Amino acid sequence: MAKPARTAEEFIPARSSLTVLREAAKGCTACDLYKCGTQTVFGEGSSHARVILVGEQPGDKEDLQGKPFVGPSGKILDTALEAAGIDRTETYVTNIVKHFKWEPRGKRRLHKKPNAMEIAACRPWFDAEVKTLKPQVIVLLGATAAQSVLGRTFRVTKQRGEIIPSSDGPVMVATVHPSAILRAPDDDARHEEMRKFIADLKIAAAYIHKHVRRAA
Ligand code: URA
Ligand code: SF4
Repeated sequence: MAKPARTAEEFIPARSSLTVLREAAKGCTACDLYKCGTQTVFGEGSSHARVILVGEQPGDKEDLQGKPFVGPSGKILDTALEAAGIDRTETYVTNIVKHFKWEPRGKRRLHKKPNAMEIAACRPWFDAEVKTLKPQVIVLLGATAAQSVLGRTFRVTKQRGEIIPSSDGPVMVATVHPSAILRAPDDDARHEEMRKFIADLKIAAAYIHKHVRRAA
């Protein structure tokens, strides 16, 4: 596993509430992505959330608005969550990397995948979010989040939609990233991808409804 020279660890306050963490993350310069994005896009949602949804990194819209999953992928996520019976307002939504990485393509800013160093550098923020919220369920959206949390050998294609138990922490469920649905080559493929995405989220929903006490 690549080891970055610096990680976000040094920016993380000792006593942390979500508000304190979010404030501290604004000043993070642990990797070069702070020069690339407009602002740190920290996680957002209920401070009582028992469920965390985690994506890869903010996109163009998220970078401009400073909020996770508010662009095209966010729309897909909202539709799928609703179809699966998960109330987004009772969850906490975040990304494994907190700055937008992009390269110019004409007038557009084209999303570029974060590399292993950047993922490792940013990881302490996610760990701090988990430590503070103590969720019961983590839904991993896409291979970047899934492999960062579950290891490089984890295969979303093979293990999507499974409840992955843990002895002391939250259970995990991995599925595709909502952008996979946006990238589907035609309508039929798109519908099929969406159906499978919703099916995975329904597995998480069934677990949540059975085991998770509702937010206070
Ligand atoms: N893609 C992500 O992984 N996260 C976002 O917040 C938006 C798009
Ligand atoms: Fe810090 Fe993460 Fe942004 Fe890198 S991507 S500067 S580690 S918040």
